[in-house]
Amino acid sequence: MVNSIRIKLALWFVCMVMLLYSVDSIASMMVFKVSLMRSVDVGLEDLIAEVRPSVKVVNGHASLEDWSDEAEGKPILATVQLFDTTGKAVEEYGPEGVKQLHNGTLKIRNEEKSLRSMFSKIENDGKQYGYIQLQVSTRPQDDAIEQFFMVVMVVAPFIAAGVGICAYLFSGQAVKPIERTLLMLRRFVADAGHELNTPVATIEACLETLRDPHKLGEMSEDVLQIMERASERLRHLSKDLIVLARIEDPEAEMMRTSVSLHQLTDAVVSELVPRARERGIEIVMDNKVEANIYGHHESLLEIVNNLVDNAIKYCDTNGRVLVSLDQKDQNITISVSDNGVGIPADSIGNIFDRFYRVDKSRSRDVGGSGLGLSIVKAAVERHSGSVSVESEPGKGTTFRVTLPAGRSGTFEG
Ligand SMILES: Nc1ncnc2c1ncn2[C@@H]1O[C@H](COP(=O)(O)OP(=O)(O)OP(=O)(O)O)[C@@H](O)[C@H]1O
Ligand SMILES: [Mg+2]
Repeated sequence: MVNSIRIKLALWFVCMVMLLYSVDSIASMMVFKVSLMRSVDVGLEDLIAEVRPSVKVVNGHASLEDWSDEAEGKPILATVQLFDTTGKAVEEYGPEGVKQLHNGTLKIRNEEKSLRSMFSKIENDGKQYGYIQLQVSTRPQDDAIEQFFMVVMVVAPFIAAGVGICAYLFSGQAVKPIERTLLMLRRFVADAGHELNTPVATIEACLETLRDPHKLGEMSEDVLQIMERASERLRHLSKDLIVLARIEDPEAEMMRTSVSLHQLTDAVVSELVPRARERGIEIVMDNKVEANIYGHHESLLEIVNNLVDNAIKYCDTNGRVLVSLDQKDQNITISVSDNGVGIPADSIGNIFDRFYRVDKSRSRDVGGSGLGLSIVKAAVERHSGSVSVESEPGKGTTFRVTLPAGRSGTFEG
């Protein structure tokens, strides 16, 4: 598919370049022809000026007989003609021309050659005696124009081939990001399908058990709990997918407002404290600043919620989570630290990938699908911020999110 896009792009490019080449060649040929004819006309003007004084008026008629006597024996390259006042040719010298008064190019019938012709009145003391006309063959100029045309035609296929090869190579570079995006999309769809499949299969198995009263027996409560957990996983997964799609969509309009990070972290922590207590985990807040940020409230909430949720999830009993806010110049840093299981060094580079989990079974047990940190990364990037992580297996992890406090970021609104 990508290859056919490359070929189409290359063909379009070749067509466009060849169209421009044709227009340019036609324009150049016309300019070339006009300038050639202009130079012939200048030559004719000079010749008329040279011959004109030799025209004698004898008995009220113009004549070039004296001039022809003088020119006898010398080669006459142009046709020299005399016309009376009615436009009738009366004398002609040199190569045979067309006996017709004309300024410009004359095509000779049944012959491939053409003539350039120019005439001028013969006047003396305000009285007109006829016309003098000079004609020359334009064969050398026609040959030059024909050669020009031949060069244009011969060069055209080489230009088309060269442009086609270059366009194909460059389009390879241009479609690389598309190729990468398609690959990512395919992987994402496969991973999402896989993640959805597990809870659906669990619910189906439970339904099967519920349908068979012999199998069910005393297990009914367990089966219902398993179904509840599976449906909770589905709900969590679909919510995360929707949030991620919305945050990553550059077209999505997201209203920015002034958000108090102090209040926001307070709200998140208050909501998560009961769950932390259940597992014997203590959450400590250390908000050093009353930080306000111009951003999208829901996305900022997702950032803090996912980081604190992870800190609780990946802490063992009696663990401790510290949430703090700090400001340096125009940058606000939200830090979430825990003394939990930590992340192995070789996994740190992958934790922001969609559906990536260091320990799949542990994450599944706590209901994780591996989308939380992808949401954090996308939301941070839309606020033109950055996120970093430090971790030591067995000792704990610290996530730091740095956001510009001013009106930056790419949110609409
Ligand atoms: N504070 C932490 N301590 C240890 N490991 C962590 C921590 N935060 C994230 N991780 C690791 O990074 C992985 C990815 O985290 P992420 O939040 O994206 O997914 P999740 O928590 O498994 O699922 P979800 O957030 O979608 O419910 C986790 O599965 C976990 O292995
Ligand atoms: Mg998470």
